[in-house]
Amino acid sequence: MSDRKAPGKKLLKALAGEMTDGIPVWLMRQAGRYLPEYRKVRAEAGSFLDLCYTPDFAEEVTLQPIRRFGFDAAILFSDILVVPDALGQQVAFKEGEGPVLEPITDLAGLAKLSSPDGVKGRLAPVYETVARLSRSLPSETTLIGFAGAPWTVATYMVGGRGSPDQAAAKAWAYRAPDEFQTLIDLLVEATVEHLSAQVEAGAEVLQVFDTWAGSLPELSFERFALQPMKTIREKLKARFPDVPVIAFPRGAGGMAERYFRETGVTGLSLDTGVSPAWARDNLQGQGCLQGNLDPLLLVAGGPEMRRQALHILETLGQGPFIFNLGHGIVPQTPPEHVAELVTLVQEWRP
Ligand code: CP3
Repeated sequence: MSDRKAPGKKLLKALAGEMTDGIPVWLMRQAGRYLPEYRKVRAEAGSFLDLCYTPDFAEEVTLQPIRRFGFDAAILFSDILVVPDALGQQVAFKEGEGPVLEPITDLAGLAKLSSPDGVKGRLAPVYETVARLSRSLPSETTLIGFAGAPWTVATYMVGGRGSPDQAAAKAWAYRAPDEFQTLIDLLVEATVEHLSAQVEAGAEVLQVFDTWAGSLPELSFERFALQPMKTIREKLKARFPDVPVIAFPRGAGGMAERYFRETGVTGLSLDTGVSPAWARDNLQGQGCLQGNLDPLLLVAGGPEMRRQALHILETLGQGPFIFNLGHGIVPQTPPEHVAELVTLVQEWRP
């Protein structure tokens, strides 16, 4: 494990429920196509997966937004779909199309996947990137490792690509819930292995992205989003009792309160649709919150971005809080707007 765990790190303090002098800030997808220096390395790497699997390149693009903006945390540059790739399902990222996988829709497809124990071996270059970052990051910057939540990763594995309604994964989950559970259980194991290896390489905080949690009706949300996160959290806690876990159950809406309490995660990342005042009154007592500026306000910039960022800070900045977006930075974002937002957050005091 890393020895750079300076107790003074602002982001770790907020996750420990302490008040900090100034609100820590990082942004989902802070490394990406909106940065010219990212596009340069991306072109050099060739394919997106080569970028993820080449420690020299992945380390460099993780550091780019830290150098430019001085964020309080760096998030490992990788993708949630390296897990299916490591399980033996072919994954490709096609230009202008996003991820493409050979769909798995039945038990015969599942049987072709390799065991979750093998993930650690096949993703060795990713952990090498983590180890390098843990040496090269500034001492005040927290290193975040991550994975996709089982439901969200399953939507890509079953659908073979991104979809607006997750119809393919739902078709299987509703037709044969116990069969679909086999896939979720496999992903729980693989996710715990993948996150554990990141901690062993030096990650100080873990974030689990459940981008499509909000499309599930209550009973399926309990079974395929809440329960798996609870299991992942328990298993990680047994191995690494002090490592904080942040969950991002995007679109959880009225289920957010139960999700936060029952999964036992340290921090909850709020999507854009969550009212800051509601979150303060119903969630902040349970732990640290993170969020939730609309990424499109960051595209627009100007007075409306500043007004809505201040609204979030003023409502949530009295309790343990990490400033972030409600979803990832989009490619058309002007980097100058990011610089302006970061300064605004860094200078804000209650
Ligand atoms: O800076 C960071 O946040 C770290 C890196 C990171 C990426 N993806 C890099 C990436 C993280 C944390 C992710 C998570 C991820 N990946 C999620 C969950 C969070 C979310 O945004 O909802 C999901 C659903 C994915 C799957 C994925 N990866 C899709 C659907 C796509 C295509 C869409 C797109 O933006 O191109 C990707 C590709 C991807 N992952 C890119 C980046 C920077 C763009 C690839 C490129 O450079 O061409």
